[in-house]
Amino acid sequence: MMNESIILEVQGLTKRFGHIQALDGVSLEVRAGAITAIVGDNGSGKSTLIKILSGNLRPDSGSIHIGNKTCPGLTIPQAISLGIRTVYQDLALDNYKNSVDNIFLGSELMQGPFLNRRAMRREAEKLLADIHVAIPDLTEPVASLSGGQRQGVAIARALRRPGKLLLLDEPTAAMGIQESHSTLEMLAGLRQRGMTQLIVSHNLHQVFALADYVYVMRSGRVIAAAATGDTTAQRLPELILRRESEAEGL
Ligand SMILES: Nc1ncnc2c1ncn2[C@@H]1O[C@H](COP(=O)(O)OP(=O)(O)O)[C@@H](O)[C@H]1O
Ligand SMILES: [Mg+2]
Repeated sequence: MMNESIILEVQGLTKRFGHIQALDGVSLEVRAGAITAIVGDNGSGKSTLIKILSGNLRPDSGSIHIGNKTCPGLTIPQAISLGIRTVYQDLALDNYKNSVDNIFLGSELMQGPFLNRRAMRREAEKLLADIHVAIPDLTEPVASLSGGQRQGVAIARALRRPGKLLLLDEPTAAMGIQESHSTLEMLAGLRQRGMTQLIVSHNLHQVFALADYVYVMRSGRVIAAAATGDTTAQRLPELILRRESEAEGL
């Protein structure tokens, strides 16, 4: 039986691309209402893990436990029906479309044979207001928005249909300090509203302040795990070294 507060648990996930072992036995858990961060350098397997949890990739082995379901892998519709919502690293926005159209991309509201533009606009305004993202002109193509605003559009789209776990892959990548700050505040606000999040980042210090739990990945493995309340970002390298020396039997 899974602990009730754990809403997602993965065990021993492996994934290989040709001769690259992208995931090499990853186990972790996600607690309801908390922010769990996964940090690691580029190439450590973070996005591969996110893609497995969102149903975009099938693991070679291992298992995923979510709700009262245990499965070897997920399809995208399964992940969605289990309440998993994903904001991908590249955001997957259509740059030429405006914020409203991007939020409703592929799930437009219709009125008979016509788009219900008024309803979509109203709902988009509400979704963006809920996450405190200010976009003065919703008819402007998203290409002209700031990184933080674009992230807001991607999150609003992910949350359009209520979910219970939000996966975010590098939400502040390629953002300046100010924008990163407002994006992190947006995620903290979502947490306050009870939204469980699994956030991937290559910036330990940035997510440490935000997260409740941190997993450190390297070369497809989890090499350290800690509750942020029990340690400091400065001490995490020690935990990593300890793990490594244990693994070597030192
Ligand atoms: N579709 C793919 N085909 C081949 N190699 C891949 C593919 N996706 C990821 N990889 C490789 O797997 C490793 C982990 O990649 P990734 O999960 O994207 O890491 P991260 O997100 O931590 O930067 C890297 O070596 C990467 O080059
Ligand atoms: Mg990545």
